Amino acid sequence: MCSESDTWDVLIPDTFETLDDGFHIFHFRFSPRLRTSDADHGNLVETERHRAAQFHHQIDRNRFTVGRSLLRQVLGRALGMEPLGIPLSIEKGRPFLDPELGDRWQFNISHSGESVMLIISRQHQVGIDVEVYRDFPDMDQVAKRVMTDEEFDSYMQLAKARRADTFYRLWVRKESVLKFLGKGFEIEPRRLSVGHAKNSISKASFEGQRFSIHQSMISDSNPPHQWAFAHTDGLENSRFRLHSVAARPV
Ligand SMILES: CC(C)(COP(=O)(O)OP(=O)(O)OC[C@H]1O[C@@H](n2cnc3c(N)ncnc32)[C@H](O)[C@@H]1OP(=O)(O)O)[C@@H](O)C(=O)NCCC(=O)NCCS
Repeated sequence: MCSESDTWDVLIPDTFETLDDGFHIFHFRFSPRLRTSDADHGNLVETERHRAAQFHHQIDRNRFTVGRSLLRQVLGRALGMEPLGIPLSIEKGRPFLDPELGDRWQFNISHSGESVMLIISRQHQVGIDVEVYRDFPDMDQVAKRVMTDEEFDSYMQLAKARRADTFYRLWVRKESVLKFLGKGFEIEPRRLSVGHAKNSISKASFEGQRFSIHQSMISDSNPPHQWAFAHTDGLENSRFRLHSVAARPV
């Protein structure tokens, strides 16, 4: 849909305003041909345009531009404001709504490959992570660095062919919690135990705070994606809805 010369816009489903009490997740998969450029910068404010221009690789510029554009359009709908007029602040890399707008909407963005995911909730703080599978030769060494001893022992007991799936399941769980906390890799992932049993909801705790983690796969894509989002414990019954977002040329 996005050709090299298209200017594009995000097409947000109408259903999204109907779910006040839960979590909305927006998934945007952009075309490998997408070339975000000056033409797309109408979707971003000055500081974001500046940052977009600094990415060396087109794919990184695409992820950033699509993510912020999606965020501004969704928040614009949620708040009834012009997307470019929404004041965002950044702390440790994490964008959040300026305090002048109160804490009315919480959100978090993740990107991997050609996928961008945004989660937004009216009340609840959230963290999200998406990862596109890719096989890399030193996965076991990385696993040792990021898993607790117990997680690593059970990971190593798996047949080689099952490890990538387990690695990514565990990885998105950890990163969703670290992103919830807003500190990312300032916290060593191996300090956080999340386990890798194949449950769609799992639990974790960190320094006395307890979390629930929802997990799923986007298996109709090649390669598949694992994704997870984390919120504080006790909200398991909150509904969440996954919206596939399309681009439209404008
Ligand atoms: C957060 C972090 C784990 C994300 O890693 P990543 O592999 O790039 O993962 P994702 O694609 O899932 O997340 C990136 C998005 O998360 C959000 N984000 C960035 N930092 C974040 C943080 N500390 N907490 C929560 N979310 C964060 C941003 O929206 C970012 O996308 P954008 O910059 O395009 O808007 C990593 O960047 C990190 O550890 N950051 C914290 C360290 C720090 O202080 N960075 C300062 C940078 S100025």
